[in-house]
Amino acid sequence: MKVAVAKGDGIGPEIMDAVLSIFDAKKVDLTYEFVDMGKWVFDKGFSNGMTPEAKHSIEELGILFKGPMETPKGKGVKSINVTARKTWNTYANKRVFQTLHGVDTVFSKAGILIDITIVRENIEDTYGGIEHMLTQDVALSRRFITRPGSEQLIRYAFEMAKKKGTRRITCGHKANIMKLTDGLFLECFQEIAKEYPELKSDDIIVDDLAMQLVVRPQEFDVVVLTNLQGDIISDLCAGLVGGLGFAPSANIGDHIAIFEAVHGTAPNIAGKNIANPTALLLSGIAMLRHLGLMENAAIIENALLYTLEQGVHTGDFGDKAIPAKNTTQFAEAIIANFGKIPQQGAKPQLPNMPATQTSFKLDHNEMMVSDDMQKEFIIGVDLFIESSGQPEYIAKKCQRHGGVKFKLVSISNRGTQVWPTGSVYTNLVNQYNVRFESIDDSPLNQQDVLGLYVSLSGDFKICSSELLNSWGNKKAYSLAQGQ
Ligand code: NAI
Repeated sequence: MKVAVAKGDGIGPEIMDAVLSIFDAKKVDLTYEFVDMGKWVFDKGFSNGMTPEAKHSIEELGILFKGPMETPKGKGVKSINVTARKTWNTYANKRVFQTLHGVDTVFSKAGILIDITIVRENIEDTYGGIEHMLTQDVALSRRFITRPGSEQLIRYAFEMAKKKGTRRITCGHKANIMKLTDGLFLECFQEIAKEYPELKSDDIIVDDLAMQLVVRPQEFDVVVLTNLQGDIISDLCAGLVGGLGFAPSANIGDHIAIFEAVHGTAPNIAGKNIANPTALLLSGIAMLRHLGLMENAAIIENALLYTLEQGVHTGDFGDKAIPAKNTTQFAEAIIANFGKIPQQGAKPQLPNMPATQTSFKLDHNEMMVSDDMQKEFIIGVDLFIESSGQPEYIAKKCQRHGGVKFKLVSISNRGTQVWPTGSVYTNLVNQYNVRFESIDDSPLNQQDVLGLYVSLSGDFKICSSELLNSWGNKKAYSLAQGQ
């Protein structure tokens, strides 16, 4: 079997060399194709941070084992890490956080064992980075949550939980506030949960989840989250088990999978050969299991756990009274412990299993559309306009443009209604949402909306617009606060 390997930037080459030296010492049945990806490739003029040859190899091989990569700071440059996850539709980001003996935390000292798997949506949400300045004062980020994308992720999480024999699968969300986006994610979770009656499933508001994880982490098992919330909660979980140095990550798609550590390039310690390779090693072990190399995975993981139990450590953790090993020495200590069994219980050396299928040829982009689409009507439009006038002034101007089809129903500023009712205590910025609806609830068409747009543009700069749709009797948009 062959996998693509990108060593990455900063500490990437050091920790990748350490991990591959462990694999080589164990004679893991893998060959590597080293591909050019990262900040250094970006600096050579490849705007997406990878060469065409690297892209081709990864799509051919279906597995990428990668070191951390730096996102060049500055406008217009997208993260290579996010680009890779999105381009290859690795929709499920699985991050496992377990108590490691030898890595002291407040929980391990209190005898509280942690074993939490975060399954984070990896493609959608604000991570599209679709952002616009609407006025010089107002920035807008678009947050996409889709039904097919959520279903794909949540189904993966339930299947994984079932295989793992999980105690509980929990959906973290903010559907009480973001009723359409997080609401859709939660709805998908609740629908799919019905197909797995044998699993205990529940949901929790994400801020409560953050608190509960800190107070009672042992009560959680598999937690499913949207992209940004999942990113934050998984770093919190990394903190529960000793920090980013112990947080592995697998980005799983139907065709391509990417294995990497959660942490970044650690520029402050790069080039010193002192970084902790554990997170990347745990990610590599997950890759071996994904490829069906169960025996090798177990032997290496047992050696790692045994090494940690012995108090062997790099500078970022462990007992300061015991001298720290550098990256190379830490890898050598693990190699020396092949065959050793950790006290906390050996990971089972299952016979090698058939690899999870990842790579197969696609000749077109897959379209994901829900089966039962409801009939859709346009019943109004939100027009986002620039103005530093008062709400009454804007209402008077807007009402003139409604014509025979539209009535002005609401004006809001930063999501809070300021007309026809509102409070003078609501501070304003120079961008309003003026909401027009059909005068007699009769369906509108796009030409009607364009007519209104053209008319209103005589008085205001229109920064953005959104159709107000309804499906059957269900309104497909949120109300303003106070509307
Ligand atoms: P970071 O994770 O690189 O560093 C945060 C802190 O953790 C630093 O003090 C660092 O020394 C320490 N640290 C991280 N990994 C360590 C390890 N293996 N051993 C010992 N100490 C370790 O986060 P930061 O500084 O925010 O990001 C640096 C760069 O990494 C940025 O360009 C960022 O975009 C990129 N990054 C890349 C990721 C990826 O490739 N998946 C993920 C996160 C950040």
